[in-house]
Amino acid sequence: MTSREITITEEAIGRMAPGDARFGQVMTSLIRHLHDFVRDVQLTEQEWMAAIQFLTQTGKTCTDKRQEFILLSDTLGVSILVDAINNRLPEGATEQTVLGPYYWEGAPEMPMGSDIAKGTVGEPCFYSGRITDMNNRPIKGALLDIWSGDGEGNYDMQLGSNEMRARAKLVTGEDGRYWFRSIKPAYYPVPTDGPVGAMLRAMGRHPNRPGHVHFILSAPGHRTIVTHIFPSDSPFLDSDTVFGVKDTLIAAFTRHEPGIAPDGTRSDVPFHTCEYNFQLAPAQQASQQQRSA
Ligand code: BEZ
Ligand code: FE
Repeated sequence: MTSREITITEEAIGRMAPGDARFGQVMTSLIRHLHDFVRDVQLTEQEWMAAIQFLTQTGKTCTDKRQEFILLSDTLGVSILVDAINNRLPEGATEQTVLGPYYWEGAPEMPMGSDIAKGTVGEPCFYSGRITDMNNRPIKGALLDIWSGDGEGNYDMQLGSNEMRARAKLVTGEDGRYWFRSIKPAYYPVPTDGPVGAMLRAMGRHPNRPGHVHFILSAPGHRTIVTHIFPSDSPFLDSDTVFGVKDTLIAAFTRHEPGIAPDGTRSDVPFHTCEYNFQLAPAQQASQQQRSA
């Protein structure tokens, strides 16, 4: 190895003028790790150009509806690592996971107990549970912002729908309970028609996420969490392509033969029930947020 292959790292870092301390720290580490990576794999010029083209293509694939860079971050495990570092929750608090690209701002507020599926295909599922604080006290006024794909693995927006389906906002009452009807979501692939799909294929990886229902839970005085519930019988729980599965977020979905459903209506088709309790950590003070680093 020539000495230039070593000295370039300190020289590149040394070019930075003093400025924002955090920016300096991040850029110094980035340059060090990038150079170490290039030396480690002895990057060829063809590989360097392939990387440039891959990143260019990733940028070109982004639109106002599609964020290929976030998908790249998700599939490389970076999103969930950033989440883990920034959301160290107390033992017992419901864990976070990825937000994903299918969140649609402005889901309709519905009364507790609503059928939020609005005709979404899939086997009906009746969800229920409690939202409590860390002392198991019910949280009144907790907001559940809920969304999921359908029983075939598609989100409303992927089907070109202008109408929101399997999405709603519900608010808990005094007892902290929630309940609603939707469908049992199926596993689905992340978008594979762009450079990230090509990368997954080249790595010999499948593109699938296990079935899940998304939630953003918020309540005054508590930490907002972005999370999922995963049916325990879904395929790909052990190999979620975005590394979003946490054991504590896996729930039993009990299948029932046609008959009287939990909401008192008669279901002519088999249905599921899923009970899951959420526990919210107290809101962090600004000073605590800095200390948790
Ligand atoms: C999702 O759960 O909706 C999702 C998350 C990350 C990447 C793609 C999809
Ligand atoms: Fe999803």
